[in-house]
This record gives sequence, structure tokens and C-alpha cells, in this order.
Amino acid sequence: MAKLNLGVLLSGNGRTLQNIINRIKKGELPAQVRVVVSSREDAGGVVIAKKEGIDVFVVSPQQLRGDTFSEKIASILSKYEIDLVIMAGFLHFFKISEKYQGKVLNIHPALIPSFCGKGYYGHYVHEAVLKSGVKISGCTVHFADNTYDNGPIILQKTVPVMDDDTPQTLAERVFTAECEAYPEAIQLFARGRLKIVGGKTLILEE
Ligand code: GAR
Repeated sequence: MAKLNLGVLLSGNGRTLQNIINRIKKGELPAQVRVVVSSREDAGGVVIAKKEGIDVFVVSPQQLRGDTFSEKIASILSKYEIDLVIMAGFLHFFKISEKYQGKVLNIHPALIPSFCGKGYYGHYVHEAVLKSGVKISGCTVHFADNTYDNGPIILQKTVPVMDDDTPQTLAERVFTAECEAYPEAIQLFARGRLKIVGGKTLILEE
């Protein structure tokens, strides 16, 4: 199987990036991370990308606003002939151009359509989950469209919410599920098993 060229967008610690790199190294993902784009110079993900010898660019939403921000990212991705864009804790709006429609994945640390949308990221998600009293949470991998945390869902994994959870303990449990869900979704994409029909993702038999 031909290797997928991945472009990873991130803003934070980069644990999602590290997990994908680890899976590739173990031979579990037919892919290579060609380029990383960070919205912050000081993101942990930038350090990881450099350590792994991956080309990394910082595109600041403070310096490039609106469409220019997204166009800059798209122009970097184009140079690396990216097959699939992975949003890995990318906390800004990336307007997806025609070229990348159906080729951008996002992971959200809750069960979409709950606890998602603008402002729901990182610990804010888990605080809202705990405040609501729901008994399960989890993560969602979906094709991204041009609305925050929206687009056809590929897969979801659930975790229990415990009575004594803090946002941190719940985040850790959800992140463990994320580390399984994202590689699984990328693998399905690589095998050509995902088909978007009427706003939903069908997983095709092999
Ligand atoms: C992950 O938990 C991811 O689900 C979340 O940010 C974290 C990134 O961690 N994404 C969102 O909240 C997007 N709405 P990382 O920087 O260590 O990979």
C-alpha cells in the first residue's frame, strides 16, 4: 500500500502528533508525517517535530488573519503533496479550500454533537462534561468542514465518567481513547474504506 503523506496542524503539546509518529514507527500506519504547521512558536508539538526531523512551520493567527491564515497553511501543505491533513489539537479555524475537501480530519475530546464548537477545547470540554452530569464521554474523529467541530463522523470511542473525576483525570482517560481512535481512522482512510454519503461517513467492507 502506498504511504499516505500527512500534514499535521497543531497548537499545543503535540501528544497526538507523537502518538501518530509512534504508530508509524511501529509499522501500524502506512503513512509519513511530511510537514507540521503550528499556530504557536512555543508549542510542544514544534519541539517534537524538530526532534523527529520533520519540517515545521509556524503560521500565526495574530499576524495572518481570516482567509490569509488558511491560505498560508494551504500553500505550505501544497508544497508537500499532502494526501491527508490531520488536525491534532489545532485551536484555530482553518478554512478548507476545494482542494482539501474530504481530506482533513479532526479529533475532538468529546462525543460530538455534545460539548463541541467554538470555545470547547482542552480542559473546557471536560469541565463542561463534568458539570452536566453525563455518565459517559469519549472522543470523536470526523472529517472537518468549514464549521468548528463539524463534519461527517468517522468513529467515536466512549469512556465512563467517574463520580470523583476532575477535568484532568477525565482528560487522561479520553486521551487514551484518542490514541486508539485517530490511528484507526487514518488507517481506514489509507485503505480507501471511508465514503461520505449524505453528510455521514460509511465504512466500507474490505
Ligand atoms: C487533544 O485532546 C484533542 O482532542 C484536543 O486537544 C488535545 C491536543 O493535545 N482537541 C480539541 O480540543 C479540539 N477541539 P496535544 O496537543 O497534546 O496533541
